[in-house]
Amino acid sequence: MVRFVLATANVHKGNEMRAILGPLGIELGDRPHGAAEVDETEDTLEGNALLKARALSQTTGLAAIADDTGLFVDALGGQPGVRSARYAGERASYEDNVVKLLAELAQTPEPRTARFRTVIAVAYPEGESFSVAGELEGTIAVSARGAGGFGYDPVFELRGVDRRTLAELSENEKNVVSHRARALRALVEELASR
Ligand code: IMP
Repeated sequence: MVRFVLATANVHKGNEMRAILGPLGIELGDRPHGAAEVDETEDTLEGNALLKARALSQTTGLAAIADDTGLFVDALGGQPGVRSARYAGERASYEDNVVKLLAELAQTPEPRTARFRTVIAVAYPEGESFSVAGELEGTIAVSARGAGGFGYDPVFELRGVDRRTLAELSENEKNVVSHRARALRALVEELASR
């Protein structure tokens, strides 16, 4: 059994990561209480994911894993991107961010193409670190649909025949197709090749 301590305190992300990695023999431990939150000061997902994983590994002396995700909308020049969590302001809720996104795209005809990108970084206390990524192509819906998932899921539609939003998928369905699932599969391959 491989074990990492998980940098994210986001319950949704933690649940998704554990559901995907658990059956593959990778266990994720909770971030210890009192481990300081790291400010995401880098301007790339890779930079921020590595920053979080390295900081936690140094604090705990354990192998650490961190996830950083962004939504990149073509008609907005790649926004909200690295700033996806704070798109509508420093303390924005998921709903605030979705409302702002739909308002910004109000004059943009469909299809409003976009992609989710997740970077997973791993850092070891000896100093070594690496990152892997996964992407999911989609379009931004004109209004929110579905009750599952979190964040921008209600407005992120799959491309192709199945045009459901990620929030209309079951947890298991999202965990097969998602950007995070793809990044985690890349992680498993990378760990196996080492
Ligand atoms: P973070 O900086 O990696 O925590 O994520 C940035 C923002 O992207 C979060 O606040 C969420 O709103 C959004 N986000 C991250 N992952 C997902 C996802 O799987 N679905 C929808 N939104 C997500």
